[in-house]
Amino acid sequence: MNKLYNAGIIGTGSCLPPNIITNKDLEKMVDTSDEWIVSRTGIRERRVVDEDTATSDLATVAARRALDDAGLEPSDIDMIIVATVTPDMNFPSTACLVQSNLGADHCPAFDLEAACSGFLYGFIVASQFIMTGVHKNILVIGAECLSKFLNWKDRNTCVLFGDGAGAAVVSRVEEGYGILSHCMGADGEGGKHLLLEAGGSRKPASLETVKNGLHYVQMEGSEVFKFAVRIMAKASEQVVELAGLTKKDVDFLVPHQANIRIIEGARKRLNLPEEKVYVNLDRYGNMSAASVPVALDEASRTKAIKKGDRLVLVAFGGGLTWAACMLRWCK
Ligand code: ACO
Repeated sequence: MNKLYNAGIIGTGSCLPPNIITNKDLEKMVDTSDEWIVSRTGIRERRVVDEDTATSDLATVAARRALDDAGLEPSDIDMIIVATVTPDMNFPSTACLVQSNLGADHCPAFDLEAACSGFLYGFIVASQFIMTGVHKNILVIGAECLSKFLNWKDRNTCVLFGDGAGAAVVSRVEEGYGILSHCMGADGEGGKHLLLEAGGSRKPASLETVKNGLHYVQMEGSEVFKFAVRIMAKASEQVVELAGLTKKDVDFLVPHQANIRIIEGARKRLNLPEEKVYVNLDRYGNMSAASVPVALDEASRTKAIKKGDRLVLVAFGGGLTWAACMLRWCK
């Protein structure tokens, strides 16, 4: 990588809404079972926001916690990137709402949409501004309120997702630390397997779209699953090679939290033992762009990862998209 400076994460934070929906609760809502959900996905419960809470609310709390962790003030922030597929509204962007909530005066703020890969896309974009010396501190946030876009009568989707937000402060770090390599990609052909069809310019909101449930997440689970297993393992391997390292150099894996069987594929490809992989999908389900930063924040606060560890971060999502990076932890 061409760079003047090293870019790394100097602070993390997260925000999970307090309301819990367990698999047992879902048994009363759709034709499913705790046994099916746990054995097919690994998920036991998920968090959901109340009626009055939106994505920017969770994002703002996560951002404040990340700034505290980094020892910075909102005025120190040069840019805000929010990765989300569940913005408060079409525009203004959720990032602009967060900027106003934080009082991060006049710094550029924009949303980035790469579904579950969004946080890593955002982190890689932010790193370019840090590595070239253009900016010093960038807030990257992954935040979602997927519960508001789920059909709670569709067992194929409603059991999988949860709400939450995670944030990271991306800044200059000392030599040898921070991002070591990255990869990103997209397969637009596969976009049809995972989508929220209505509410955009192709199918604006109408009585018809609402009647047909087109404002809900629709997914062909098995197609997404096949893609995910292949790409998570491949991208993980690729960033290790790009960093000029071998699998033996990987200390910890922080993957997107969609399905334990998908995570297992990536773990096995890197020859890592189970205790070297961060898993919280049993508690939160798939929080899309929030999954990776929340996992990273928890891994950091519980000291599962420590200064000097070489981490692989990897995600896949709607689009279809994927992203991964290798990172030497500097906190
Ligand atoms: N409870 C009980 N049965 C269910 C449920 C449920 N909640 N959901 C589906 N089923 C049934 C289906 O109706 C189907 O029944 P049928 O065979 O009679 O038609 C059967 O279970 C499906 O079985 P499989 O296809 O074998 O299920 P699979 O092992 O593939 O697991 C799952 C399904 C969990 C959805 C899996 O495919 C998966 O995890 N896919 C990836 C999804 C994902 O990660 N999406 C993330 C991207 S999110 C983003 O970017 C916003």
